[in-house]
Amino acid sequence: MLRFIQLLPAVPPSGDYSLRDLPGIGRRVDVLCRDLAACFEWGPTDWPLSQLEFSALFNDQVLLTFQTPNERMPIGERGWAMVVKNALQGNPPNYVRVTEGNLESLIREINQPSRSQLWVLHEEGRHFKDCKIRVSGTQNSFMLGDYRGFDSRAEELVSKHGLPRISLGKTSYLSSHCVASVISKFERMVK
Ligand SMILES: C[S@@+](CC[C@H](N)C(=O)[O-])C[C@H]1O[C@@H](n2cnc3c(N)ncnc32)[C@H](O)[C@@H]1O
Repeated sequence: MLRFIQLLPAVPPSGDYSLRDLPGIGRRVDVLCRDLAACFEWGPTDWPLSQLEFSALFNDQVLLTFQTPNERMPIGERGWAMVVKNALQGNPPNYVRVTEGNLESLIREINQPSRSQLWVLHEEGRHFKDCKIRVSGTQNSFMLGDYRGFDSRAEELVSKHGLPRISLGKTSYLSSHCVASVISKFERMVK
């Protein structure tokens, strides 16, 4: 299982945004919509969809978890925006779980060394190829910052829990491209 966690500290969990203005009124919820498309639509080539999970933490309060959106897969940024909005407003499809959550409890739950490793995707981290990643027998999860990177609270928790920072290079990429790139690297690692 390969999991991604997108932090969205600036996006209110009300889902009260117009589908015509995701970056403005949506407070950059467009970032999440592109990530979801990368994770489930155009990113994977061989990696099974059933082995991908994507979580988004809104305003350190509400967690949406997406798993195996096989039937009626949303298409493009707008399709995913509609699913996110409906889920936040109490009408999630069956492949989305809506729970209360915050970053610290998420870190405690996911970061269980030896069986579940939480990595922080960070431009200044150790290069991916130099990190010891166990593909079998361990669940690997990758945490992404929003369009500004990680806020001071997230950085504090990353340090407090000693989470490893992993980098795809010094260039700052769109988070959707980071998602696709990590999936592609895992596909190559299991070949
Ligand atoms: C658009 S970037 C963040 C903005 C960027 N720090 C800036 O201020 O230009 C969104 C997130 O993608 C991930 N990311 C982007 N480029 C990366 C890279 N080269 N290596 C690892 N993660 C990266 C990080 O998690 C980052 O917080």
